[in-house]
Amino acid sequence: MSAHTLLQTPVGELVAQDFRRAHVFSRFNIDFCCGGGRILLEACERAGADATKVLEALNSQTTEGQPDNALAQLPLAELIDYIEQKHHNYVRNTAPLLLEYAEKMLRAHGEHYEVIKPLTGWIRALVDDLMPHLMKEEQILFPAVKALAAGESVNGCFGHIGNPIRAMEYEHDEAGTILAKLRQLTDNYRAPEYACTTWRICYQTLAEFEADLHRHIHLENNLLFPKTLELSMS
Ligand SMILES: [Fe+2]
Ligand SMILES: [Fe+2]
Repeated sequence: MSAHTLLQTPVGELVAQDFRRAHVFSRFNIDFCCGGGRILLEACERAGADATKVLEALNSQTTEGQPDNALAQLPLAELIDYIEQKHHNYVRNTAPLLLEYAEKMLRAHGEHYEVIKPLTGWIRALVDDLMPHLMKEEQILFPAVKALAAGESVNGCFGHIGNPIRAMEYEHDEAGTILAKLRQLTDNYRAPEYACTTWRICYQTLAEFEADLHRHIHLENNLLFPKTLELSMS
């Protein structure tokens, strides 16, 4: 879609075409829910957002991931960089939006629909688990794997590298359990007929977040960790 067409299309319609655009709008404080009838140009003006920056953000959204066989060929340090850039960044960018959508739903509908309170609680629990998990990988495990791959000695307070790997696998299982609860609670992320736009976006974002996290965990559990353990034995 050209920049001109994007600017002349109502924001609600842009979100209906691709819900991920809601993430960009949220970051720029553009109201896509009640103000969804406004064209993007007008919505940017109302939000005091720079339309050029909004367009840039919209255009940079569609970056596809690498297939497994390409990633399996990468040296471990590059695989780690890929996981951090693609998946850790995704979690850091998306988790605050998920919380924002959930809080909005809680304020608007928490009293009337019983699914909202537990839903918000589980979203918070997931985010609270994931943030320190990313830090532990980035600050403890991944540097140790990089050192091992470079043939350097691994000086960790954790003993054998299998120990932090097991700890991370355990945390992956916990995140998986919360995702399963969210799926059950939301009827497989199907928003009810009466749901408002934020509610729908929240479910769609959850579905996207789940897909990204499953892929992220798959790359760590089934590619990065086994290769690291193999290397530690040699
Ligand atoms: Fe990770
Ligand atoms: Fe992980």
